[in-house]
Amino acid sequence: MTETVPTGIYGLDEMMSGGFPKKRIILILGSPGAGKTILASQFLYKGLTEFNENAVMVSLDENKHHFYSEMINFGWDFKKAEEENKFRFIDATRLSRVAMLKERMMKEETHSLRGKLLSIDTLIEQLQDKIVEIGAKRVVLDTLASLFYRFIDPIERRTAGTDLIEALSDLGTTTIVTTELDQVGLERNLSDEEFMVHGVILLQTLFSGGSTVRALHVEKMRGVGTNSNMVPYTIDRNGIEVYPTMSLFRDK
Ligand SMILES: Nc1ncnc2c1ncn2[C@@H]1O[C@H](COP(=O)(O)OP(=O)(O)OP(=O)(O)O)[C@@H](O)[C@H]1O
Ligand SMILES: [Mg+2]
Repeated sequence: MTETVPTGIYGLDEMMSGGFPKKRIILILGSPGAGKTILASQFLYKGLTEFNENAVMVSLDENKHHFYSEMINFGWDFKKAEEENKFRFIDATRLSRVAMLKERMMKEETHSLRGKLLSIDTLIEQLQDKIVEIGAKRVVLDTLASLFYRFIDPIERRTAGTDLIEALSDLGTTTIVTTELDQVGLERNLSDEEFMVHGVILLQTLFSGGSTVRALHVEKMRGVGTNSNMVPYTIDRNGIEVYPTMSLFRDK
């Protein structure tokens, strides 16, 4: 049996016979606002406070100050965890689309920014250092989608994504990578990343008869028995809760 790591997220662990496969990569795929950042951060915070597992967050979307102030809304004090040397935040926004846009704009006037963009290799080195420094067991990279916007060429884009996932899989941590779901509905093209990782969780908003419901689906979790139903989840001031035994749409 594959050893599992509890996420500590209400309702989610029972959908995966206990949790995520240990030291593997789990991809969280979801539409904008689906709760990818919250789910991933909740996994880290539960690790810190309930399972004695130190953590590193790599964000391509937001800086540390922004992240800390968003998370304190849920009562998750990552700043304190950092001060206790249990948590590290890596600001990788320089890898993102915003950095690219800025660079392109600046280049028209000056070449001074050239080479200052963070490379994937440098990022992985930084991440390895932080993992060793605090003995981290959990890692989140949020979000691969921001990296993709850097590449216009689809082949370069694929290579960047697969390189990054390969590098992450050597770290020996239980890792969540978030990414955007570009299609909604039943018919989807699976991406390279989905084949490379051990687990995939989909977060979607479904519409039916004028109402909407947030739906979670454990698409795959290698080595772990799963509940393969699409089940409802909620987001409130405590974060995410999953309801494995409830049906998506209440009977009318
Ligand atoms: N206290 C709260 N109560 C209810 N819903 C909340 C609360 N805080 C945040 N949300 C919901 O959480 C969602 C945002 O979650 P999150 O930032 O994790 O999404 P995301 O998938 O990472 O989005 P993005 O693609 O923009 O990064 C929003 O839809 C918001 O409505
Ligand atoms: Mg997000």
